[in-house]
Amino acid sequence: MEISGRTKVCALIGDPVEHSLSPAMHNAAFKHLDLDYVYLAFKVRREELRDAVNGVKALKIHGLNVTKPLKVEITTLLDRLDESALNIGAVNTVLRAGDKLIGYNTDCIGALEALREAGVNLEGMKAVILGAGGAARAVAFAVAPKVRELVILNRTVTKAESLSRDLKRRLGVDVRFGGLSEVEKEEELKDADLLINATSVGMKPNENLSPVNPNLLKPDLTVFDLVYNPVETKLLKDAKKVGAKVVDGLSMLLFQGAAAFSIWTDRDPPLKVMREALKSALEERVSG
Ligand code: ATR
Repeated sequence: MEISGRTKVCALIGDPVEHSLSPAMHNAAFKHLDLDYVYLAFKVRREELRDAVNGVKALKIHGLNVTKPLKVEITTLLDRLDESALNIGAVNTVLRAGDKLIGYNTDCIGALEALREAGVNLEGMKAVILGAGGAARAVAFAVAPKVRELVILNRTVTKAESLSRDLKRRLGVDVRFGGLSEVEKEEELKDADLLINATSVGMKPNENLSPVNPNLLKPDLTVFDLVYNPVETKLLKDAKKVGAKVVDGLSMLLFQGAAAFSIWTDRDPPLKVMREALKSALEERVSG
């Protein structure tokens, strides 16, 4: 596909962006569907965000993905936020509609789709989320209305508390919270159906670490790890060993990207092509 004067530009903004897998995933999808779109990555520091947003309007950039450290701050610079972005208080996708910029958060739907694809039915489940950062917030808002019981455990307890308060205020759902001590994990995981790791524990270069002692895992638990580098984390390896069902972080990355793709193009995302592109980009990054 030739880049022309009509090509629509989508871009990732954030800092750092050099190692992002999103350009590979979206450009492969545009190419596959022969869409006249291109996806780039722009390094934008926090203090440059206002100028960057004005630049998006002036240059008529079609869509954005937004990553650290801009996801929260950009919410105040857009013309409108969809419900999930409003709830979560963070934006990871932007669509330009004329001279208006609309913010979305597709991490929420990304988490739900990853679980749905793995055949996980949230209804009636007790879920335990480890972490209370940006990713944990999106996942908590996704699963809270569907599960029977939700518990959020975080190293910094005040962040878990404030997430729990937001879930009550915005969704009217009661969510318990606590710290990440061994005692708390053991107590909460005893009768849990779903464990979601939304901390960065286990991410390279600390791939030998797991946020959960293997003896707390059991065959009837589903374990969803948002960490995708490596794809098979120590937590997921331990979970497989005891016969638990596992869902990896690459699925969430794929489905949040797929939802953004649909927002920008109004087309069904070519999931297979996008997943393959993600995998190759990840392998290249590891070997490169
Ligand atoms: P993301 O956008 O990926 O969620 P984040 O907002 O920086 O990133 O959140 C990182 C999460 O990982 C937080 O829940 C963090 O715990 P704190 O709130 O206490 O900082 C958690 N985390 C990071 N390193 C950790 C560690 N070594 N042990 C336990 N939790 C950790």
